[in-house]
Amino acid sequence: MIDSQRHLFDIPEGVAFFNAGYMSPLPKASAEAGEIALRRKSTPWVLSPNDFFTETEEFRKLAAQLIQANASDIAVIPSASYGLAIAAKNISLNAGEEILVLEDQFPSNIYCWQRAAKENDAIIKTVPMPEDRNWTQAVLSLISEKTAVASLPHNHWADGGLLDLVQIRKALDKVGAKLVLDTTQSLGAMPLSVKDVRPNFLVAAAYKWLLSPYSTGFLYVAPDYQNGIPLEENWLNRKGSEDFSGLVNYQDEYQPGAVRYDMGERANFALIPSAIASFQQILDWGIDNIQATLAKRNASLMNELSGTGLTAIPDHFRAGHFLGLEYEAGFPENILEQLAAEKIYVSKRGNSLRVTPHLYNNDNDYERLIGALRRILK
Ligand SMILES: Cc1ncc(COP(=O)(O)O)c(C=O)c1O
Repeated sequence: MIDSQRHLFDIPEGVAFFNAGYMSPLPKASAEAGEIALRRKSTPWVLSPNDFFTETEEFRKLAAQLIQANASDIAVIPSASYGLAIAAKNISLNAGEEILVLEDQFPSNIYCWQRAAKENDAIIKTVPMPEDRNWTQAVLSLISEKTAVASLPHNHWADGGLLDLVQIRKALDKVGAKLVLDTTQSLGAMPLSVKDVRPNFLVAAAYKWLLSPYSTGFLYVAPDYQNGIPLEENWLNRKGSEDFSGLVNYQDEYQPGAVRYDMGERANFALIPSAIASFQQILDWGIDNIQATLAKRNASLMNELSGTGLTAIPDHFRAGHFLGLEYEAGFPENILEQLAAEKIYVSKRGNSLRVTPHLYNNDNDYERLIGALRRILK
C-alpha cells in the first residue's frame, strides 16, 4: 500500500476528485516541467537540433519501461485514435474475416475498424456484455478461424470489467489472429508486460492513468509490424534527419524500429518533458504498487457502501483501479450535479457511476464520497 500522495499534487483539500478515468490532474513536478518546457519557445535560440531527438528518446525509453518493451518499439503519438488508425491501416484483412471488439467499447477503438471493415469487406464482430461479467470467457467463445484481429482494452472503460489478455492472446495464436490493445484506461495503474501478452500493437493516450498532458501518448509496435506504412510521412522519421543541413537529400529509408510511425512534430517541446516527469513518477511508485493500493481502497469503499443497494462487478472480474457503481433503483438524474455541488467528482458511463481514484485521494475524500452517496440514495 502506498500512502496518499496528495502532497505531490495541487488539489485543494475541499476537492474529492474520483475521476482519473476522465482526466487525471498533473503532478506538481510535471506541471512545473511543462511550464519550463513551454517557456523555451519564447527563446527559441536555446533549442538546438539535438533537442529534436533527445527528449523523445527519453520519452520512448520510459514508455517502454512501463510495458517491458524496448525503446525502439515505441512511437510518439498524440491520441489513442492516432495509434489505432495505424494498427487498422497495417493489419491486412480479407473479405469475410472478423474484427473482434467489445459491446460499448470506446469509439476511438471502433471507428477505425469500421473503416477497415468497409474497405476490405470484413466484419465487425461485437462481443456482447456477458451477464456473468466474465469478459474473458465471452471473448474466448467468439474467437474462431474467421477472426483476423481482436482490438480490445485491458478493462472496459465504463465499469472496469477485466480481460485476461494472456488467455485471449493464446486463443488468438491458435487461429493466427492479431491482437491490438487500447490501454488508455489501464496503463500506469495496472501492470501489463508485452512479453506476456504479445500484442501486435498497443496504444495508450497518456492524459488519464499516465498522469500526463492532454495530446500525449504512445504506440507500441511489435517487431513484425515495424516495416509498415505510417499515417504521415514526416521528415524527422527518415534516416539521417539529425543532419538538418542535408534534409533535402530525400531519403527512402526510415529511422529504425517504430520511429516511422511517430506523429508529425513529435518533438513536442511543450508537452513531452511534462509526460517524462509523470512516467518517471509512475515508475518510481511502481505500477504493481499503484494497482494494489487502488484495488484495496476500492474494495474498502465497497465495504463501506454496504447496505446502500450499490453494487459493482466482483473483484476477480474487475480492474482494481476502477469501480463502476450500479444501483438497481436507478440513480437520480442529477446525481453528478449533486455530488459536484459538494466538490465530489465522478463520471457516469452507461448505467454505471464510475469512480476512478488515484494516489492523490485521501481518507477525507473517501469519507466525503461515502457520506454523500448515503445521503443522496437514502
Ligand atoms: C478506452 C479509451 N480509449 C481512448 C480514449 C481517448 O481517445 P483519444 O485519445 O482517441 O481521444 C478514452 C477516453 O475516454 C478511453 O476511455
